[in-house]
Amino acid sequence: MKKLKLIGPITQVVTLNGLPVKGPLKDDQLEIIEQAGILIDGPTILQVGNWEKLHRQFPKEEIIELAGEFVALPGLVDCHTHLCFGGSRAKDFAMRNSGKTYLEIAQSGGGIWDTVTQTRKLNQSELAQITAKNANRHLSEGVTTIEVKSGYGLSVDEELKMLRAIHEAKSLSQATIISTCLAAHINPKDFTGSNSEYLELISNELFPFLKKEKLSNRIDAFIEKSAFSSEEINSYFRKAMEMGFDLTVHADQFTTGGSKLAVAFGAQSADHLEASGEAEIENLAKSATIAVALPGASIGLGCSFTPARKLLDQGGALAIASDWNPGSAPMGDLLAQASILATFGKLGTAEVFAGITFRAAEALGLHDRGKLVAGQLADFILFPTSDYREILYQQGKMKPEEVWKKGSRVIG
Ligand code: NIG
Ligand code: FE
Repeated sequence: MKKLKLIGPITQVVTLNGLPVKGPLKDDQLEIIEQAGILIDGPTILQVGNWEKLHRQFPKEEIIELAGEFVALPGLVDCHTHLCFGGSRAKDFAMRNSGKTYLEIAQSGGGIWDTVTQTRKLNQSELAQITAKNANRHLSEGVTTIEVKSGYGLSVDEELKMLRAIHEAKSLSQATIISTCLAAHINPKDFTGSNSEYLELISNELFPFLKKEKLSNRIDAFIEKSAFSSEEINSYFRKAMEMGFDLTVHADQFTTGGSKLAVAFGAQSADHLEASGEAEIENLAKSATIAVALPGASIGLGCSFTPARKLLDQGGALAIASDWNPGSAPMGDLLAQASILATFGKLGTAEVFAGITFRAAEALGLHDRGKLVAGQLADFILFPTSDYREILYQQGKMKPEEVWKKGSRVIG
């Protein structure tokens, strides 16, 4: 018979048990189990409880005894990244810091199109290697579930190449990789038709392949002056919905409109929201769409942060993601960025932990991870400290010493 595994003793296990998907959280709502053990059966958690008690109850199982003080959190979930890309945009970054705007840089040949050009130069397996390398860096920093978007291909063939590369990367990383099709990132410079014609081409010719090859079940669109209008995306999303895709939106980054459409379509998430005002926040907070803050883009562009506090106080569901991409968010450090958002946005520890675990999982439609409770996946991370508050206090400098994915130690 297959043995169970018992891991411990763990100084504090922050379970996130019982916390709701929506609304503000107080730190005293956090369930902290002290001197705990985690009992796992294959990929799943069987019990989290007192170490001594579990040890007595299951003496013959495989015991993995830890030396030192540790705090356990659920494996982190990054629900928004663009970590499959070629090249670098260090030049853009330097130009922006010298005073050029995001739009000026895009208009002078930099921006998203520059990354498209560099990504198109790579073949599928080269791109898969880059994707896996970035995913594995994330995994070593405790991110056990990672969403990855296409969107730097921008033709039927090039988007397919990216999505196949992301699919290939799944076998090169132990992290869970969830892929999203962002062919509606911008209208590519080498496409001679209108925005609507481009979107029609994508929905007619790319969507069926996504289904056939099981490359992605999620469709994203960038609604912005420099990308697509709400009206254009309306028909695109209608088609996507008819075909059974889940939806997500790059919304309200510089101008509003995107979040309204996201809510109207019942999208899984509306991400960015730096420009959201009272009306957008109220609309989102009432809905089942998860609001995703991307502090990495605010830090990368030197823009304001998503109004996270307001979203929570009005009863919204807030997740936090890295937006890791070569243009606006090159850092790709979820924990550092979430810690920074906490200080600037006045978010409590429980709210930040929820935002990078089960609330982010919810944004991906995943209900089997993000809390350390019986029945959830045994994805957890161990920080070398005895006080859970040290994690955000160290602003991302303290990394987990061990990372466990589906019941196996993959780092440490
Ligand atoms: O989420 N806003 C649109 N897309 C990305 C940026 C992509 C890029 O600049 O390469 C974002 O910030
Ligand atoms: Fe993004």
